[in-house]
Amino acid sequence: MSFTEIRTGQGWDVHRIAGGRKLILGGVEIPWQFGLDGHSDADILLHAITDAVLGALALGDIGEHFPNTDPRWKDAASRKFLEHAVVLVKERGFSLSNVDSTIILETPKLKDHRAKIRASVAEIVGLPIDRVSVKFKTAEAVGPVGLGFSAEAQAIVTITR
Ligand code: C5P
Ligand code: MG
Repeated sequence: MSFTEIRTGQGWDVHRIAGGRKLILGGVEIPWQFGLDGHSDADILLHAITDAVLGALALGDIGEHFPNTDPRWKDAASRKFLEHAVVLVKERGFSLSNVDSTIILETPKLKDHRAKIRASVAEIVGLPIDRVSVKFKTAEAVGPVGLGFSAEAQAIVTITR
């Protein structure tokens, strides 16, 4: 008897807001007066999605695969991390079904960038755009995100085989 195995995985990330850094979300550079600090390009969305994929596979987390002390990953484009996770999905006989995600950031407004960010994530993971969702929320001016100190992203993915 054959059956379809369905797994989900979740991921979360946070980075500090910093001047003199680029704001890169889902592989898309958003023109803005500040960016996010980090060892890599600090793309919180791709980091959260990468952890969600690794979580579905129960293969640890992004830091285990790409230590942030390793000079190879200094200022690295985070798509490398997610591409690696997607290879692991295929190697284990799974296929990625969908990605859903939320970016929590006080400013700037991101909804005008939604189409571009979705297209970029879809291209990186090899899914059609209608299987990639990216949502945006403020933190209602409270807490570290709301006060403009940091930005967060959450992601959930489904894989099947
Ligand atoms: O956080 P809040 O519920 O006020 O967000 C309302 C809407 O504003 C969201 O549903 C989203 O479409 C948009 N938004 C955005 N960029 C952000 C935060 C929210 O476009 N940084
Ligand atoms: Mg990160």
